[in-house]
Amino acid sequence: MLNKLRKWHDNLLASNAAVHYERGPSGPILEEWRQRTFAGFLRHLMRLEREERIALISAMKAWYRKQIFLSQCTEVGEGLKVGPDPIRVFRSVTGKLIVGKDVILYTPCEFVVTTHIFPESTIEVGDRTRIGANSSLRAAKCVKIGKGCLIAPWVRIFDYNGHPLHPGGGRIGAPTPPDEVAPVIVGDNVWIGENAFIQRGVTIGNDSVVAANSVVARDVPEGTVVMGIPARVALRLADLDRKTELKPNLVQVTNSAGADAQRLF
Ligand SMILES: CC(C)(COP(=O)(O)OP(=O)(O)OC[C@H]1O[C@@H](n2cnc3c(N)ncnc32)[C@H](O)[C@@H]1OP(=O)(O)O)[C@@H](O)C(=O)NCCC(=O)NCCS
Repeated sequence: MLNKLRKWHDNLLASNAAVHYERGPSGPILEEWRQRTFAGFLRHLMRLEREERIALISAMKAWYRKQIFLSQCTEVGEGLKVGPDPIRVFRSVTGKLIVGKDVILYTPCEFVVTTHIFPESTIEVGDRTRIGANSSLRAAKCVKIGKGCLIAPWVRIFDYNGHPLHPGGGRIGAPTPPDEVAPVIVGDNVWIGENAFIQRGVTIGNDSVVAANSVVARDVPEGTVVMGIPARVALRLADLDRKTELKPNLVQVTNSAGADAQRLF
């Protein structure tokens, strides 16, 4: 019995030694390696935990910001998504804020529907439109954005100036006169570049593009690219289509291996 026990003990030691050997270095090096791996593992866990916590907080913030925004809308379609930062909404009781389906609002952004000049003032955002962070829409009468529009960050669309042009008895606290308010209508599938400013009374035709930093003071025809201050038509998108149609032919003429080149397009 004693012999059997001794043999079992020897075998156990031998097997432990083998495991030790297979696992790599032993002694102080092994200890250091273990500590480093363990510390790394802990750091990884902590990072995961921190990321999860941040994701959870962002999701909760996005949820309650959305609820606050929804409470300010007069009509809203399904599928609205908003970022976790605040959306500043100023809407007087008789004003309307209408938001279509599948709209995405990157926050923070701002909607002002003031009714002190026209009581039925309205902001309307069409289905699938996306509004970039730090953009601002302000209506004293009507700002209407079409369907599938891309409004980049820092865009401002105002249908009134906020103060009277005439110095009168001072501009501070004086309302914009009604004749200095004019609706802004943005068509469908319009792309407004970063930091553009769309002034009162402007209508932007369907499919058009407003270049970044432009100031749009006059109507934009359908299917055009406008740029500059004041924004002017730089390109008709129909011409762009014609250029792309010509592209394969150009390649065929200029490239000696025409057939191969055509296959690329
Ligand atoms: C409108 C836009 C798409 C045109 O881009 P593009 O076709 O690459 O334009 P190019 O760089 O080839 O420039 C063409 C001409 O327009 C001029 N131009 C381009 N952008 C301009 C602008 N914002 N303002 C004034 N002129 C501009 C160029 O100087 C150039 O003039 P030239 O022919 O006399 O040299 C681009 O200028 C733009 O504004 N993009 C918006 C980007 C954005 O805001 N993204 C946010 C993500 S939603």
